[in-house]
Amino acid sequence: MSGVEPVVGAGGGAAGAPPQLQEMLERARGALANAHAPYSRFRIGACVRAGSGRLYAGCNVENASFPVTQCAENTAIGAMVAAGDRQIVEVVIVTEGAEPCPPCGRCRQQLAEFAGPDMRIYLCGPEGVRVTATLGELLPMAFGPRTLSRPT
Ligand code: THU
Repeated sequence: MSGVEPVVGAGGGAAGAPPQLQEMLERARGALANAHAPYSRFRIGACVRAGSGRLYAGCNVENASFPVTQCAENTAIGAMVAAGDRQIVEVVIVTEGAEPCPPCGRCRQQLAEFAGPDMRIYLCGPEGVRVTATLGELLPMAFGPRTLSRPT
């Protein structure tokens, strides 16, 4: 992940991280605890902070018909939209695995619907923040809402 900056802080904090990060992490961890992941056993929690300042958490929701599975980011974004928010300021993604868990391609595209390239994504583990990246780093040259509003 070139250009992605590792940031590991004690107690889940991170140098230069916004004060809301700890609360976001707690919300994401709370969602992770409720993840429905009986097939992969890979539990994920996510929390998005909206432009309004409100936080929305989500977990992965798997299905016996595997492709029907919903990602944690997707769940959080759905909650945000249902509540009336439309702008994502930052995102926390937390897993229990040994490696930082970057969002899948589909989730990157979903984030791009509601965020610009500077939006920060915090990849976290049980010990706290492991890696921070911007959406632009993870999804360069994104196809987004602005693409559609630029007819030739
Ligand atoms: N998963 C997410 O929740 N978010 C991602 O960005 C990647 C994958 C979930 C889907 C599935 O329940 C499990 O992780 C294993 O793929």
